[in-house]
Amino acid sequence: MINVLFVCLGNICRSPMAEALFRDLLKKENLSSNVTVDSAATSSWHIGSPPHKETLTILKKYNISSDDLVGRQLTKEDFEKFDYIIGMDESNTKNIFEITGKPNHPKIVRLLDLTDHKKDVPDPYYTGDFEETYQLISDGCRGLLEKILIENNLK
Ligand code: 4NP
Repeated sequence: MINVLFVCLGNICRSPMAEALFRDLLKKENLSSNVTVDSAATSSWHIGSPPHKETLTILKKYNISSDDLVGRQLTKEDFEKFDYIIGMDESNTKNIFEITGKPNHPKIVRLLDLTDHKKDVPDPYYTGDFEETYQLISDGCRGLLEKILIENNLK
């Protein structure tokens, strides 16, 4: 089994959006039984909370399930449990390095470094633009899927 964890600051906007989108992509590619998906926050602010209502709205717009999305905080133990730990921006990846105690470990990657965008996923909690974030995360999820397929000889 390949285990994927998406991480953002609050675990209510970007990383649950990525979790739902990537799970949907795996389902469409018939890979649900090969890969597990989860998400977490670097902060403790929204532990136990559902996603932001606009995250739920955009997922619904694209007919993607938002089941099983509950806020939780990243732990040091997550480093051992997950094979791919994907931060939404540079600040997240730095915080993941600190929380896990694994600076610059190759399993910790910024999502859009897996695409031609090579930039942070804008935080819609501040920008208000959930559509832009959705499109970028969608591109990132395709890049991540490609990386996983290659690295695990699944293609
Ligand atoms: P996220 O966005 O990291 O994409 O979930 C945020 C959610 C909540 C807060 C900041 C960013 N907050 O300040 O509560």
